[in-house]
Amino acid sequence: MTSGLWITLEGGDGSGKTTQAALLEQWLREQGRRVVRTREPGGTDVGVLIRDIVLHHRGDIAPRAEALLYAADRAHHVATLVRPAIERGDVVLQDRYLDSSVAYQGAGRVLDGGEIRDLSLWAAEGALPDLTVLLDVDPATARGRLDAADKPFDRLEAEKGAFHERVRAAFLALAEADPDRFLVVDATRAIDEIAAEIRSRVAPHLS
Ligand SMILES: Nc1ncnc2c1ncn2[C@@H]1O[C@H](COP(=O)(O)OP(=O)(O)O)[C@@H](O)[C@H]1O
Ligand SMILES: [Mg+2]
Repeated sequence: MTSGLWITLEGGDGSGKTTQAALLEQWLREQGRRVVRTREPGGTDVGVLIRDIVLHHRGDIAPRAEALLYAADRAHHVATLVRPAIERGDVVLQDRYLDSSVAYQGAGRVLDGGEIRDLSLWAAEGALPDLTVLLDVDPATARGRLDAADKPFDRLEAEKGAFHERVRAAFLALAEADPDRFLVVDATRAIDEIAAEIRSRVAPHLS
């Protein structure tokens, strides 16, 4: 039986996660693999409800409450969707995982990144992806793309530029600490070049 594979895509909004996930999905299907595309928050029915709170609630959410909401989404998502798919031998392509929690909530806000990581790992019973693709781009370029695409701002996107700089630095530090799991891609390059680089890192996992 083919063994399953779990790939997560990380990076700020406008870094190209959705674009690259679509291209990678298409290529994986051409290789004869079954692909499950999913995201956090909001990859399950319960997750959709939680996503609505964390991204669209007007007014403050206490930082620990926010961390627990993300962890609750993650626990349900990993248990009911990700693990079963990997056990079936599918490739799970996931938009955002625990690295986003650490980068946004830990580095960006007031909680310690290590606590956020521990909470996430508890929620997911220690599950970590086989590969994490970090699409690294400066926040100004990402902002410009979102403006050009006329995408509405959600709670996190509307944060200030300095916040997005801290998030970017946090993502890069996570990647540096775990080079076996991470592929860091210069996401200012052409879409097709980035896709080719990702495919060449994924290919060895398929055999
Ligand atoms: N490498 C790239 N160069 C230029 N524009 C890009 C690139 N990758 C994505 N885009 C564009 O930037 C916008 C945001 O991309 P998207 O894939 O939705 O990012 P994310 O899912 O990370 O928010 C889209 O309009 C997309 O077409
Ligand atoms: Mg997206």
